[in-house]
Amino acid sequence: MDPALELLFYVNGRKVIERNVDPEIMLLPYLRKKLGLMGTKYGCGGGGCGACTVMLSRYSPTTKKIRHYPATACLIPICSLHGAAVTTVEGIGSTKTRIHPVQERIAKCHGTQCGFCTPGMVMSLYTLLRNHPEPTLDQLTDALGGNLCRCTGYRPIIDACKTFCKSSGCCQSKENGICCLDQGINGLPEFEEGNKTSPKLFSEEEFLPLDPTQELIFPPELMIMAEKQPQRTRVFGGERMTWISPVTLQGLLEAKFKYPQAPVVMGNTSVGPEVKFKGIFHPVIISPDRIEELSVVNHANNELTLGAGLSLAQVKNILADVVQKLPEEKTQIYRALLKHLGTLAGSQIRNMASLGGHVMSRRLDSDLNPLLAVGSCTLNLLSQEGERQIPLNEQFLSKCPDADLKPQEILISVNIPYSRKWEFVSAFRQAQRQQNALAIVNSGMRVFFGEGGGIIKELSIFYGGVGATTICAKNSCQKLIGRPWNEEMLDTACRLVLDEVWLPGSAPGGKVEFKRTLIVSFLFKFYLEVSQILKRMDPVHYPSLADKNESALEDLHSRHHWSTINYQNVDTQQPPQDPIGHPIMHLSGVKHATGEAIYCDDMPAVDRELFLTFVTSSRAHAKIVSIDLSEALNLPGVVDIMTAEHLGGVNCFFFDSKPEKFLATDKVFCVGQLVCAVIADSEVQAKRAAKRVKIVYQDLEPLILTIEEAIRHNSFFKPERKLEYGNVDEAFKVVDQILEGEIYMGGQEHFYMETQSMLVVPKGEDQEMDVYVSTQFPKYIQDIVASTLKLPANKVMCHVRRVGGAFGGKVTKTGIMAAVTAFAANKHGRAVRCILERGEDMLITGGRHPYLGKYKAGFTNDGRILALDMEHYSNGGATLDESLFVIEMGILKMDNAYKFPNLRCRAWACRTNLPSNTAFRGFGFPQAGLITESCITEVAVKCGLSPEKVRMINMYKDIDQTPYKQEINAKNLIQCWRECMAMSSYSLRKAAVEKFNRENYWKKKGLAVVPLKFPVGLGSVAAGQAAALVHIYLDGSVLVTHGGIEMGQGVHTKMIQVASRELRMPMSNIHLRGTSTETVPNANVSGGSVVADLNGLAVKDACQTLLKRLEPIISKNPGGTWKDWAQTAFDESISLSAIGYFRGYESDMDWEKGEGHPFEYFVYGAACSEVEIDCLTGAHKNLRTDIVMDVGCSINPALDIGQIEGAFIQGMGLYTIEELDYSPQGLLYTRGPSQYKIPAICDIPTELHVSLLPPSQNSNTLYSSKGLGESGVFLGCSVFFALWDAVSAARQERGLPGPVRLSSPLTPEKIRMACEDKFTKMIPRDEPGSYVPWKVLI
Ligand SMILES: Cc1cc2nc3c(=O)[nH]c(=O)nc-3n(C[C@H](O)[C@H](O)[C@H](O)COP(=O)(O)OP(=O)(O)OC[C@H]3O[C@@H](n4cnc5c(N)ncnc54)[C@H](O)[C@@H]3O)c2cc1C
Ligand code: FES
Ligand code: FES
Repeated sequence: MDPALELLFYVNGRKVIERNVDPEIMLLPYLRKKLGLMGTKYGCGGGGCGACTVMLSRYSPTTKKIRHYPATACLIPICSLHGAAVTTVEGIGSTKTRIHPVQERIAKCHGTQCGFCTPGMVMSLYTLLRNHPEPTLDQLTDALGGNLCRCTGYRPIIDACKTFCKSSGCCQSKENGICCLDQGINGLPEFEEGNKTSPKLFSEEEFLPLDPTQELIFPPELMIMAEKQPQRTRVFGGERMTWISPVTLQGLLEAKFKYPQAPVVMGNTSVGPEVKFKGIFHPVIISPDRIEELSVVNHANNELTLGAGLSLAQVKNILADVVQKLPEEKTQIYRALLKHLGTLAGSQIRNMASLGGHVMSRRLDSDLNPLLAVGSCTLNLLSQEGERQIPLNEQFLSKCPDADLKPQEILISVNIPYSRKWEFVSAFRQAQRQQNALAIVNSGMRVFFGEGGGIIKELSIFYGGVGATTICAKNSCQKLIGRPWNEEMLDTACRLVLDEVWLPGSAPGGKVEFKRTLIVSFLFKFYLEVSQILKRMDPVHYPSLADKNESALEDLHSRHHWSTINYQNVDTQQPPQDPIGHPIMHLSGVKHATGEAIYCDDMPAVDRELFLTFVTSSRAHAKIVSIDLSEALNLPGVVDIMTAEHLGGVNCFFFDSKPEKFLATDKVFCVGQLVCAVIADSEVQAKRAAKRVKIVYQDLEPLILTIEEAIRHNSFFKPERKLEYGNVDEAFKVVDQILEGEIYMGGQEHFYMETQSMLVVPKGEDQEMDVYVSTQFPKYIQDIVASTLKLPANKVMCHVRRVGGAFGGKVTKTGIMAAVTAFAANKHGRAVRCILERGEDMLITGGRHPYLGKYKAGFTNDGRILALDMEHYSNGGATLDESLFVIEMGILKMDNAYKFPNLRCRAWACRTNLPSNTAFRGFGFPQAGLITESCITEVAVKCGLSPEKVRMINMYKDIDQTPYKQEINAKNLIQCWRECMAMSSYSLRKAAVEKFNRENYWKKKGLAVVPLKFPVGLGSVAAGQAAALVHIYLDGSVLVTHGGIEMGQGVHTKMIQVASRELRMPMSNIHLRGTSTETVPNANVSGGSVVADLNGLAVKDACQTLLKRLEPIISKNPGGTWKDWAQTAFDESISLSAIGYFRGYESDMDWEKGEGHPFEYFVYGAACSEVEIDCLTGAHKNLRTDIVMDVGCSINPALDIGQIEGAFIQGMGLYTIEELDYSPQGLLYTRGPSQYKIPAICDIPTELHVSLLPPSQNSNTLYSSKGLGESGVFLGCSVFFALWDAVSAARQERGLPGPVRLSSPLTPEKIRMACEDKFTKMIPRDEPGSYVPWKVLI
């Protein structure tokens, strides 16, 4: 075999040789499918989530150094790996050998919940430690910036990371000479009273030390290979694509000459996503390998030349070094580049992406190109015809043929000139999230004055994000030459630029007015920055900045993180071996961290397994005229394509007595509706075929997308729900004031890290089916599959080991997809797997309901709300799903912590042409609660009182009655509130915030505290029944099974704690395998915060039954072991297996009367958040959050705090950054982490304090504990109201009328636009109706 056709690399120290490799394959599927290494996870496929992070190591024969760097396996073409060593999570440690300290600490610090993100986190951290064994906290947070976690809220992950820092207790950031340990970060004591924190939730003493000498070495063979690499181009030919890897410059030029249209793939972070998401196909790819000339770093002729092949991470390091060495005046461009390189993507992408690839991609939102362009950079090009240089200017960026590379040319390097004295360069960007998010608008600006004078000699301004490519405000700059640098010039500049950089109202990406505002806001910032430097350089000639403008200059960056946790101590009387109340690590924590935890798609392929993919509707409301399957069916590997016709009479299932169709019949009602299912031998073939299915539609009227449109068309699901208490109409007559208002709240995508996954296996006997599925509700899956296959339920078994996050999203749609998958499996008698891609998942499955809340409140002048009339409208989407339950829970919980003596609340679920919205953590409460809190905030403004005062006045104080006449004792609510006020030093900090706001015109702080009363219960006894099965084996070991699903919340861990307490047996003796309809039948859905409550009571019951049976044996032989007792029981024919059962909490609700006892108990809490905003850009930072929760008696404080924090951060995302964009045709644009931003590590509060109230007794619940899964989401709205407070401060100072109406999520766009000023007034506005907006507010 010609070695040039052999691909050789190492994975975890083992040599891999591939001949006949398919160049279209990426490393992620290769690891998972070919090598069976399932630890590396699929989360998005586009480099945006970090779940697939691995470490790549490459040896450079030139530098003789090995470079270790993190990379996302989903974007690494397998052919690019020749000579590389890949390390996956399996390669660094395992439970079978030795776990790595990184794995151990993430697990033991409770940094895993569902565990799906954990291998990626582990690999990012591991790679950092390979390069920096004692990293700083900044390096740590930077390393994890590209890894998303939807469960934990990141705090415990940071805690784990900190244990590797030199001094782990400290923030390591001596900003202003102050460190977190010196004093509270905000300069105020963190606790006003009782400065009490519990011991850590983990014990550092037991951690394995990090020993770099133990790490896997770089394979010597690869070093030798690199040193002696034959100078021959490698070529890999696949079925459709040819991969050419030249190893010399000459080879590269030859290849480019021969295939001028072939892309030069370096990091594949631009080409890869285009191929994957835009369907672009390249028959030939050229990918240079270790070509020295592409890695040059050279200083000559007052410029720095950087090779096009250097990664952005290498560029960052080089520039960091250069700015240390060169005088500041020469490094203006480098500093600006460094600023953006700090936030550009995550560490993995920065390490993969090349400078050349970045420049050449010419993305409209490129962060570096505007800076390289203003910096007058030039590009060194080479082809077989020779060298030439072209400027990186506007023409190049707009791909003007005269200014572009010729097809045969290669970009070799980029020349970045030194700046000159009196030359200044600045970089600006604003994104939805501070880091790892493409800019909404970015900019590079440069001015050159020449010696003295302050007269503009050169001016260059480029913007990204506002056009089809990076654009230049050339004419404006030209006109400003010769002008002095003063406010008049600024004013002219703003007007000129707004004129020149024109953005139509319907511009793609939307946010048009925000973008226009940013264009001038950045200009203002640049003006100030330069003015400040001029003043510093020449204090005599240049005026000082006006005091009020100083605050415009600094960015909101604070990266240190500091947290305290205060949890309940275990009763000293409790036996030491009893684990209840202890912070026990998640049972699967270590397996999550080693990648050994098995999720649905990690199950090995079954013999002759098929793959199913769905074809979905591209129209929101249309008639299906025809479906042509012929072309798709003719593709190789395609086995079948099923439509509604094939499913015939079983194409439907009744959910809550309403029919839900599986595949569309004659009409479609939303984009993303399932139309047909393609079944093929492999995922690739199925996906290819799906693209060839041709469906002809005819649009139908009306198209209803928004809540307003639904109201107009009277399009509601029946019935409407209403709750009334007192006499609202009479009460309105006696109040001092009445206000009417409304608030809109957007929806939310579940963004569970593991997408919808299922594998259906026909057993081949008696028509039995095994369904392995990632679901919260196995019984439902069993029912729906059985009904579809016309089988009794006893032939269909559903198994769930664990779920990689669910949050309510893995019930109804999962059932529909499982039914279709099972139908296919049954039809073909072969196993069928269906795993949704992230984009499909987001498109198809719906999420949290958007809400419109309208309120009319009557109140006294001292803030007492005596009458409240509310209307809730939720956007339910095309089918009913759980929409009625959601609005019911919304109105039952809308009172939150307040006693409204006269209340009427009505709610409607709107039927629209959108994918059906469904259950989501909090189930209506986060929306209803926000509406109520918004009303209270407005009342406070009207009364001239602080919101916290009005909250307190209206709060339940004592024993009282809810609007549905259920008794409530609010003692713990008040205690949480008071403790939160005290812990957060509220009054002191409020004064400090006010002082800050007086002193800072362009930055504002805001502070808000919200109370929480979250009712827990399911509204019916039957919905709360639970069962468990406990076996004791003759060796004394115990197997526990119950009906709850482990989806990260740690229910299995808690169940083992329960069994351990009840059986008085060590936890290590007890095992739990997963959930199955085979062992526990008819189990209810896992959700509603009560999974551990209910199943725990069932486990307890089973254990007590067993213990009762065994007690005589134990008392006869008290010194015996469990093995002895089990054997004796067996010998005496005593059953060692018991079922446990809990019939459900007493609960009822009569909607006719509006009365009932729907809930078992209330979770109380309070959260206080402080934020800072940049009024010019809308950027915001959560500076500090204090949370106090009443959890009853915590069964496991580590898990409970994990739920509180994780939910809080998810809530913060909901209320501040997570924004779903729909087109006017009903298409969801935001279909992946690149467009939809969930909180990342940069978003968590700089300071976080969580405190649990002391234990309180609760008669009916499991060991007096309370379920905490959902309640914390609402606490995220403390950040919303803190932002509201900051925006209000800005508006007040600017003399704008209040109260300001803000909607959720309160994004940078809304913050900026609410802080009206001369710049927002300056921008052109489009007449509503004069253009078609890019998106609609659903
Ligand atoms: C998850 C994610 C987040 C991102 N976030 C950001 C962000 O925040 N800010 C930002 O600015 N960008 C961001 N990006 C974009 C990223 O910066 C670019 O994708 C990257 O810089 C491209 O480099 P590459 O080496 O991977 O290019 P490749 O994909 O390998 O190639 C891109 C193009 O460049 C051409 N090319 C490459 N090298 C040469 C050469 N030497 N000569 C001629 N042509 C060449 C190729 O032909 C191809 O057309 C993000 C990307 C991802 C995937
Ligand atoms: S799966 Fe690779 S980054 Fe998300
Ligand atoms: S633990 Fe991070 S996504 Fe679930």
